[in-house]
Amino acid sequence: MKILGIDTSCDDTSVAVVENGNRVLSSLLSSQVDVHRIFSGVVPEIAARKHLEAIIALVDEALRESQTALSDIDAIAVTNRPGLVGSLLVGVGAAKGLSVAADKPVIAVDHIAAHIYSVHLTNEIPFPYIGLIVSGGHTLIVRVNAHNDYTVIGTTLDDAVGEAYDKIAKHLGLGYPGGPIIDKLAASGDANAIKYPRAMLSGDDRYNFSFSGLKTAVVYQTPQCIRKGENASMENIAAAFQESAVSVLYDKTLRYSRDSGISNVTVSGGVACNSYLRKKFSESRDFKAYIPERKYTTDNAAMVGGLGFHVKEKNDDRNISCFSRVISRR
Ligand code: KG4
Ligand code: ZN
Repeated sequence: MKILGIDTSCDDTSVAVVENGNRVLSSLLSSQVDVHRIFSGVVPEIAARKHLEAIIALVDEALRESQTALSDIDAIAVTNRPGLVGSLLVGVGAAKGLSVAADKPVIAVDHIAAHIYSVHLTNEIPFPYIGLIVSGGHTLIVRVNAHNDYTVIGTTLDDAVGEAYDKIAKHLGLGYPGGPIIDKLAASGDANAIKYPRAMLSGDDRYNFSFSGLKTAVVYQTPQCIRKGENASMENIAAAFQESAVSVLYDKTLRYSRDSGISNVTVSGGVACNSYLRKKFSESRDFKAYIPERKYTTDNAAMVGGLGFHVKEKNDDRNISCFSRVISRR
């Protein structure tokens, strides 16, 4: 079964053709990063307009590259939530238009569910497993019971981890998007040069995340560190921030792994691109970590087309949770 996947949830226009859930026949992306860079963040109105310019050509190219005619597609899977409304609208509108033109069904896919699924594009993972999702808008610990069957264990109470990377980089004048820049700087920094807080939280919030305190600490503590003569180079700030953020992600995942007895963990979403995170999780002796290839960690449509296959097979999209609205459900 061949699924055409479309994702326009934020600032990347992505289209893919995926066969039987994990055979990626084509996966294309048109990045808008250069347009948004001058604003140090995504401008929703511009993002929607750019999607509109790119989407049809990208669909044509993805079909051509996969050597598939639109008539040979079995369904069109499209991200319909969560994301920037104007951006989502372009993808959903394109999917509906193609659906009418080619008489193919549309499958609505949750973007976070697709990020969770991205690990299955290149791995066999036994259920149940723990899904850690680390993106620009979400930080979640999810118990994945089966494809399309999730229990949200923990979420962020304020900033998402990717948001913390981006906002800190913006504040320090490092550029946009912050994640890859901090990742690179941190590689030559000393994580022990500065001590930033780690919000582990307890009680009902023991699996929840909070990164706003860390963000504030980096912003306000840094001038003090410099005054006190601590070695607050950008490299050291980046490494110390990253050490704090990734340790919290790791320790909370471990906490739930121990409490639940589940020892298979997946890490997905844009921050799963991070070199330090990948090293720390993949070298874990506490659990077995599965992390997608870098090209499938950030937004892509292969994960949408892949999950679309399982949704269609089950003929059931009722269970797709809107993770963005779920605060805590366990
Ligand atoms: O999953 P994604 O592409 O979009 C959302 O669904 O939000 O994630 C984007 C986030 C951004 O915050 C970006 O800074 C972060 O992923 N990111 C990284 C790295 N590459 C992208 N964060 C840390 N290290 C990286 N190498
Ligand atoms: Zn995403």
